Amino acid sequence: MTCFSSPIGIFDSGIGGLSVLREMQALLPGEALVYVADQAHVPYGPRPVSEIQQFSEAISRFLLTQEAKLIVVACNTASAAALSFLRQRFPHVPFVGMEPAVKPAARKTQTGKVGVLATEGTFASERYADLMARFAQDVVVYQNPCHGLVQLIESGQGDEPETERLLQEIVWPMVADGVDTIVLGCTHYPFVIPVLEKVGGTAVFIIDPAPAVARQVKRVLEKAAMLSANTGAAQLDLVTTGAAGNFAHQVQQLLGYEHAVKTAVWQVENGELTLQFSQVQL
Ligand code: DGL
Repeated sequence: MTCFSSPIGIFDSGIGGLSVLREMQALLPGEALVYVADQAHVPYGPRPVSEIQQFSEAISRFLLTQEAKLIVVACNTASAAALSFLRQRFPHVPFVGMEPAVKPAARKTQTGKVGVLATEGTFASERYADLMARFAQDVVVYQNPCHGLVQLIESGQGDEPETERLLQEIVWPMVADGVDTIVLGCTHYPFVIPVLEKVGGTAVFIIDPAPAVARQVKRVLEKAAMLSANTGAAQLDLVTTGAAGNFAHQVQQLLGYEHAVKTAVWQVENGELTLQFSQVQL
């Protein structure tokens, strides 16, 4: 049984969702959180929709065994592929998903030209097509699937010259054409905002949707009278399907604190993919 003191579940293919987690920790410091990084399968971007749906369903089941009262799909690619599917599968669970912030970007731009950085999975989705049809009619949108960027960030090379070179290739042609607003449509990308600012220059406004997602989580919990009453330090569980030591190091690098990490393993049971805590925790 979930109750107001139950944790909020969050997941992503890897470390990207930590950019959402840190906003949630800032806005909702009393909430217990369980974060799952599916690093066994990162990147999700090039994967088929059906596969991402399978992973997302199994991760959601895992989070529900941890009594999650709400699940944040802190991944644009998984939201695009699986958010409607998850809502159908688990009709009683509140889900908060993500989508590229095309609407605020279309409002913000002065030049009428907007850049969207996301994954190929997000760009290929119906959700994205719908977003474009609704909010991008009066602006020119420059899209880039940023091939290799998620992997560079996952491997800790976010501030290496290689990342800067890749971002130059992506951003310079947009800026040369007059793009003045760039949407971060992948939760990994906020971790390279300093490089993006350097490459794009001061004329470019960057939109990171993570703070808006945290506010949406708060609204949903408020409405359901499910906000935690806790005023002390909140429990944080970090779980990876990859290597615990590596994830703990990434958390330290990106969020600035040390924290224990548990590992979970993928298994097939009666033909169904499941995620479970591994027996041996290093
Ligand atoms: N962080 C993810 C997103 O927001 C997924 C990146 C990936 O695994 O390709 O899209």
